[in-house]
Amino acid sequence: MPLNATPALLPVYAQMPVHVVSGHGSRLVDADGNEWLDAYGGHAVASSGHSHPRVVQAIASQAGQLLFYSAAISLPIREALATALAERCPGALDRVFFCNSGAEANENAFALARKRTARQHLVSVEGGWHGRTPGALSVTSGARYEEAARRSGVPLSTRVPFNDVDAIRAAVDDTVAAVIIEPVQGIQGARDCSVEFLRAAREACSTQGAALIFDEIQCGVGRTGSFTAAESFGVTPDAITMAKGLAAGLPIGAVVITPWLAEGVAVGDLGSTFGGGPVVCAAALANLEVIDEEGLMENVLQVSERIRNGARTLGIAEVQGRGLLLGLRLDRPAASVQRALFEHRVITGTSADPDVLRLMPPLSFAPAEADRLLDALAKVLS
Ligand SMILES: Cc1ncc(COP(=O)(O)O)c(C=O)c1O
Repeated sequence: MPLNATPALLPVYAQMPVHVVSGHGSRLVDADGNEWLDAYGGHAVASSGHSHPRVVQAIASQAGQLLFYSAAISLPIREALATALAERCPGALDRVFFCNSGAEANENAFALARKRTARQHLVSVEGGWHGRTPGALSVTSGARYEEAARRSGVPLSTRVPFNDVDAIRAAVDDTVAAVIIEPVQGIQGARDCSVEFLRAAREACSTQGAALIFDEIQCGVGRTGSFTAAESFGVTPDAITMAKGLAAGLPIGAVVITPWLAEGVAVGDLGSTFGGGPVVCAAALANLEVIDEEGLMENVLQVSERIRNGARTLGIAEVQGRGLLLGLRLDRPAASVQRALFEHRVITGTSADPDVLRLMPPLSFAPAEADRLLDALAKVLS
């Protein structure tokens, strides 16, 4: 298939030249019946795998019962999902707002922080990526995003150099509403923050009365081997934003916050027509149950270790990231290795770092699938 096969779609994506018609677990099938291994996880979305039968069943059953009603009416399935998230998040993170995407979750987190602190300014970290809506762009690194933020008229956040403990301490003063950090920077090739840096951010926010937001849109929902990346680092923020892997394929965003951040929130402060709709909530709830009941977070830790060890055997000097958000630092351009793996019907990702190949397979990626990925890598790198 040619790239961007129809002019009816805006040509804003560099598409992989494969025509996928179905997927189960970590396997995809193309229009010619060929099987592919998906180490890209549908862009880190297919957390319990593609089309997990329990998620599909939950969607079908809920769709047959009630396809939609907005949050103008209370729905047991929405309340069940909010409770399930509150139970799984660490510390006092137990209040939830649902929306439809990652960028929207971040925008709502900023709105909550600004309201609670009566301040405006945001602090972010160099290399972080937070979405394409104006507020999200204002905290996203990279010349093209900063230019897009300027075009939308939003002031840019203060950028702190990656893992610079002194800089984060210095940047957070009593004008700052929130600090947003991706604990594992996906677009940078799964570059993980140091625990010291996250602790310094926590301390600075607590001292100055600013909100600490973890953007876990890519690294959350079990991907680090803990339900939240926050637990994996042992640092608890005031807000966690989630999206991608939460409903394993249906569009959802969520902001989970503490009672401190929720104080004073009143009717009309936030809103979203589709946010927290019954079908997406049923999908997310089934997905969370699958992650728990099938031991997928334990699997993440085991398979992550297998990939790290295998990569070392192949002479790959550095593997960054956590769990199943990994970046393999190669001795040649990652894009060429990605293309060569593609020839072996293995789908992987690149990153902003030209030497780093990004892996974000389903949390159910099996040891045998990791071995198939490593075999293909061995052939490509030899
Ligand atoms: C860390 C992070 N934050 C925010 C977003 C934006 O999410 P969405 O595309 O759902 O708006 C993404 C998407 O790639 C992301 O990886």
